[in-house]
Amino acid sequence: MLTQNDALFVLAVGALVGAAYFMFASFIFGAGYQPAPRAVVTRMLDDAQVASTDRLVDLGAGTGAIVFRAARERGARAVAVEIDPFRIGILRLRRRFGRAGDRVEIRWGDMFRLDLRAADVVAVFLWPGAMLRLRSVFETQLKAGSRVVSHWHPVPGWKAHSYDETTRVYLYRWPEARPDPSPSAG
Ligand SMILES: C[S@@+](CC[C@H](N)C(=O)[O-])C[C@H]1O[C@@H](n2cnc3c(N)ncnc32)[C@H](O)[C@@H]1O
Repeated sequence: MLTQNDALFVLAVGALVGAAYFMFASFIFGAGYQPAPRAVVTRMLDDAQVASTDRLVDLGAGTGAIVFRAARERGARAVAVEIDPFRIGILRLRRRFGRAGDRVEIRWGDMFRLDLRAADVVAVFLWPGAMLRLRSVFETQLKAGSRVVSHWHPVPGWKAHSYDETTRVYLYRWPEARPDPSPSAG
């Protein structure tokens, strides 16, 4: 029979394990978790000129700082791709109980396997290694006229259409962002 102290101990250990999982799981998957601050999200949505006709995809959506505002404030269709099941749970709760949830689609899985051909705007807040891997995905899948907005890290080798120093937001327009072809030898 559990005493009250045993129950408290089990609860405390459970809370600690949950907190550690929340903090470290995404390091294992490819990028740590940190929500983009409000001013950053505003800048990302403004720079990409997100509108109600757009389909915005957030690669590594976390708990939804970008997707729910894109849906609520801009009327966009937003797709949240997230690998961490705990954050998927939070995203589902927000979609169920928050505003504009009907315009948010949640995909539990690996962002590197996602088909981006239908995206008008791709939002990212990821580590440099992930940006490097995504570059070739972008180059083979993005349609002309689509935009990529990235907080903190650039897409390696791409030409930014704009960069805001205060919020560290890069805007890329595809295919304008394509790097210049290297001069042919000889
Ligand atoms: C820095 S957070 C950004 C969260 C959100 N985009 C924002 O700006 O508030 C990065 C997120 O990417 C997720 N992530 C990392 N690797 C991933 C992968 N391979 N597929 C999907 N999500 C991934 C992490 O779990 C984490 O929630």
